[in-house]
Amino acid sequence: MPFKASDFGNDFLWGVAIAAPQNEGAYNIDGKGLSIWDAFARRQGKVKNGDKPTHACEFYYRYKDDILLAKALGFKVFRFSIAWTRILPEGTGRINKAGVAFYHKVIDECLELGLIPFVTLYHWDLPYELEKEGGWTSHLMLKWFTRFVTICMDEYGDKVKNWIVLNEPMGFTTLGYMIGKHAPGKIGLEYFLPALHNASMAQAEGGRIIRSLVKDAYIGTTFSCSEVMPYTNKEADILAAQRMDLLLNRLFIEPSLGMGYPHMEGFSITDKIHFHNKAWKYTERMKFDFDFIGIQNYFALTVKANPLIPYIQATEVSATTRKVPHTAMGWEINADSFYRMVKRFAAYEGVKDIIITEGGACFKDHLVDGVINDADRIQYFQDYLLALLKAKGEGVNVKGYIAWTLTDNFEWSEGFKARFGLVHIDFKTQLRTIKNSGYWWRKLLK
Ligand code: NOJ
Repeated sequence: MPFKASDFGNDFLWGVAIAAPQNEGAYNIDGKGLSIWDAFARRQGKVKNGDKPTHACEFYYRYKDDILLAKALGFKVFRFSIAWTRILPEGTGRINKAGVAFYHKVIDECLELGLIPFVTLYHWDLPYELEKEGGWTSHLMLKWFTRFVTICMDEYGDKVKNWIVLNEPMGFTTLGYMIGKHAPGKIGLEYFLPALHNASMAQAEGGRIIRSLVKDAYIGTTFSCSEVMPYTNKEADILAAQRMDLLLNRLFIEPSLGMGYPHMEGFSITDKIHFHNKAWKYTERMKFDFDFIGIQNYFALTVKANPLIPYIQATEVSATTRKVPHTAMGWEINADSFYRMVKRFAAYEGVKDIIITEGGACFKDHLVDGVINDADRIQYFQDYLLALLKAKGEGVNVKGYIAWTLTDNFEWSEGFKARFGLVHIDFKTQLRTIKNSGYWWRKLLK
């Protein structure tokens, strides 16, 4: 191995993550309400192979074993999310005691094993009952979210100090409310613009609630990011890349830092954001002084101008077309690009600590005689960690790296076939098999 864990410093936070809707299963057990993903997966053609998160990894029943696995692989941090629908089955209104109790057990289990819990408040599983009222497009969202966050802080704030408000707001607003690939499957700017705005507001408001209710809280939120390169050096392609970059990389972090929404001449979405969301009125309220920001980088993108694509007027030139290294998702593998994105986000004024709150890759795993030799995943982690070490060496205040993900799980509209885990799951028997990448992590962290 070209580096040691200790090269990152002895207090570096090495972690592994999961998320409620992807891992828990038990979708209707002990009073849990339906989430938008439970509902979306029932609609034909929305999730590959008709897969549903109904049972997933049965983390709800197997949390002790899985947390123990995280510990056995050497991690110090365990990141998981709270399913809003376990706490408030209808999203608002009555509290479900059994759901509240479940996360006490998960937290206690972590603490008992000496794992530090990092808890995400929203990892994409909005209560379906709230979606019926407009979900993220509704101006009531802030009120609903405030209640949910307040309950979580009252319940768990004494035990959990590390909080993540939103998981990849860009991800769930564009995929869920603009292109309809994710739950709730809405398509169009009329959904996207209010969803974007309410998510920005909720992100900051969530931070404020945690700050006011939890002593010594360490508060963050996560941003997806992807470097965007123009396919050629023609001006049209360069502008296309700039539009995509604004959408993917600037739209959420800039308001959270008090910079308001980004604007670009000739990019109609940005005019509409300012008009529709009356952006100028909310700059202060969308700002929050996060202790850390979480960075999640899964691919680099290359785009070219395409006037046929509404608003963004750009299309991706895929990694396969360009014949560059890519994962089984078709996502370009590019550790240098990851390095540049980390440096770029760290350079924003007002960013304090950085944690890589997710990093990982999907590959086609082959279970042969009880062994999964996922050498490509090991190489991926090795290259990305080396890139991170370089950034850290140059002064980036990076405090931790959280691998995605502990076990194979429900990969949203890709279903169960897309595997990101360090531990393989046979979804028929729920048998867990540590992949070689899992052993690699154990060796690194020993
Ligand atoms: C980011 C999301 O937070 C996570 O839920 C997802 O599984 C990974 N990306 C991989 O797509």
